[in-house]
Amino acid sequence: IGNNLIVLDSVGSTNDYLKRLGSDGCENGTVVTTREQKSGKGRLGRVWQSKRDENLAFSILLRPKLAPKDVTPITPLAGLAVCKALRKTTGLDCRIKWPNDIIIGKKKLVGILTEMCAEFDAVEYVITGIGVNVDQIEFPEEIAYKATSILLETGRHYDKNRLLAALLGQIEREFTRYNLELPPEALEEYVSLCATIGRSVTFKKGERTVSGAAVGVTAAGELRVMLSDGTVRTLNAGEVTVQGI
Ligand code: BTN
Repeated sequence: IGNNLIVLDSVGSTNDYLKRLGSDGCENGTVVTTREQKSGKGRLGRVWQSKRDENLAFSILLRPKLAPKDVTPITPLAGLAVCKALRKTTGLDCRIKWPNDIIIGKKKLVGILTEMCAEFDAVEYVITGIGVNVDQIEFPEEIAYKATSILLETGRHYDKNRLLAALLGQIEREFTRYNLELPPEALEEYVSLCATIGRSVTFKKGERTVSGAAVGVTAAGELRVMLSDGTVRTLNAGEVTVQGI
C-alpha cells in the first residue's frame, strides 16, 4: 500500500479523485493524500471539514478479488488499524465507535468513508478514505461538542507525513494478516478497542423504536444487539443509533 503515492496540494475529495484514477486502471494500493479538500465527503452525505494543513486526509484504492458482499470487513479492519497506530504513535486512549469512527472519550478524531465500484457482481475497486483531525484548535460551532484533534488532546503538533506513514504501515499489516476478513482473532481485537460494546443502542422496527445492548460484532462487521427478551439481532450501520457517545 502506498507504493504509488500521489500527493496533492488541493482537491475536491481524495475519494472522488482516486475513483477517477481507479476507472483509468491505477494499481492496487494506490494512495492519494492532499493538504486540503474543498468538498470533503463524510458518511450519509455529510460534509467532512478539511481545511489546509489541519487534517490528514487520504484515500487508499484496493482491487480485491471479492464479491461485493464480501468487502464489508475492509472498513472495520481499517478502523482497527488506524486506532492501533494512533494509540502507538500518540499514546492517546483512542477507541473505535462502531462501525468506523475513532473517538477519544465522546469526541470524534477520525472518520472513514469506504466506497466501492462493482461491475457484473465483481468488485472492480474499493476506496477507503480516512480523515484524521490533527491540528485543529477549534471546530465549527455545530460540531465543536463532538469533535477533537490530536493537537487538542496532546498539546503537540504531529508531523502529518509521519502519521500517514505509520497509518499506512499498520493498515497494510492488518489487511495482510487478516486477509481482508474478520476472523475471530480480528473480531476479538476489534471488540477490545470498541467503545460501543456494552452500550445501549436504539433502532427502528417499523414505526417503533427498539432499544438493546450492543454485545458484539459479526464477521461481516454488523453489530450484534441483545434485546430485553434475550434475543440477539444483527444490525447494519444505517439502522442503529448508539447512546451516549
Ligand atoms: C465520516 O465520518 O463521515 C467519514 C469521513 C471521511 C473523510 C475522509 S477524508 C479523506 C477522504 N476523502 C473524502 O472526501 N472523505 C474521506
